[in-house]
Amino acid sequence: MKSAEVFNLRLSKGVIERYREFLPVSLTTPVVSLQEGSTPLIPSPWLSQRVGGGSKVFLKYEGLNPTGSFKDRGMTVAISKALERGAKAVVCASTGNTSASAAAYSARAGLRCAVVLPAGKIATGKLLQAVMHGAEIVSVRGNFDEALRIVRAFAELSDFEIVNSINPNRIQGQKTASFEICDTLGDAPDIHILPVGNAGNITAYWLGYREYYEVGRSKRLPRMLGIQAEGAAPLYYRSPIPDPETVATAIRIGKPASWSGAVEAVTQSGGSFEIVSDEEILNAQKLLASKDGIFVEPASAASVAGLLKCTSSVRCPTCPLARLEPESTIVLTVTGHGLKDPSTPAANSPNILEAEPDINDVLRVLKLK
Ligand code: F0G
Repeated sequence: MKSAEVFNLRLSKGVIERYREFLPVSLTTPVVSLQEGSTPLIPSPWLSQRVGGGSKVFLKYEGLNPTGSFKDRGMTVAISKALERGAKAVVCASTGNTSASAAAYSARAGLRCAVVLPAGKIATGKLLQAVMHGAEIVSVRGNFDEALRIVRAFAELSDFEIVNSINPNRIQGQKTASFEICDTLGDAPDIHILPVGNAGNITAYWLGYREYYEVGRSKRLPRMLGIQAEGAAPLYYRSPIPDPETVATAIRIGKPASWSGAVEAVTQSGGSFEIVSDEEILNAQKLLASKDGIFVEPASAASVAGLLKCTSSVRCPTCPLARLEPESTIVLTVTGHGLKDPSTPAANSPNILEAEPDINDVLRVLKLK
């Protein structure tokens, strides 16, 4: 096979090729793709049982995107558009996943990439991704909200494209996750649950669900349930948090940029914001890994923690799960892969048996002898 043919092979299409008519691209837009999207929607028997009433729970496993998080859906559009307008460089603030994705797609596009990160609060795997993809990394002594404030000032440098979700192309790309869910289920779910940090993703999902509904590709709209970490829950408390803190560093955000988009998603859909503690997050992460075989990072486990909390005795009356019809369909987005942040769960649940290099001793510690 000639090399040109190899490059033209469409083994799998990325989100731009699959949903072109819904995205701000033309036939001349250079498409920068790593074949993102098309992530599995996995049924979860134990969570379905937990909800009861014949309801079915599905996990949209976004950790299986090329850089291990949902950010790739938005990044393919943002970087393609940056290249189209002739930008020379890309910049973002990040709690880790946006920077990993921006670095990878910039590398692919041949663009310079600078990332501004809150010092000491980026999971090891995510930082390593930015390093390996050749990004220039600036660590600031501040939190994500302060890093984003700095990045906003890059708007004056025309060579730079800001690829945080304040860039509308990011939201456009990320809405394709809703399209995939509707395409797989044949309709929108009754309830959609996802973690909320800077609030771009909940804004994007709601946009996607509405667009599909408006063109008749789905017959209903889901109620949106946004889960925040207790120590970083400005939307739940309806007030910015100056010093957000949570073990789920990806959503350690006190002043979400897409505040109004998130509020709109929840109010228009008849949903709500809920909070979960760090302990509930880590517990949910462990349960998901051990019961469903799906290892997600702590922020992603917030969705699961939210479902568990809202189906327990502490039901909040405003939560859509408190007034659930039987046989409902519930989708949870699990946003990022667990391998990105190996130290957080390892520090909390070491369970390693030790033995001599001898079969009898291995059988002994396994209590098989
Ligand atoms: N889950 C993960 C794994 C994330 O990385 C993020 C955000 C969220 C959930 C929340 O999504 O911000 O759209 O509400 N991470 C950003 C980053 C902030 O810089 O990687 P959101």
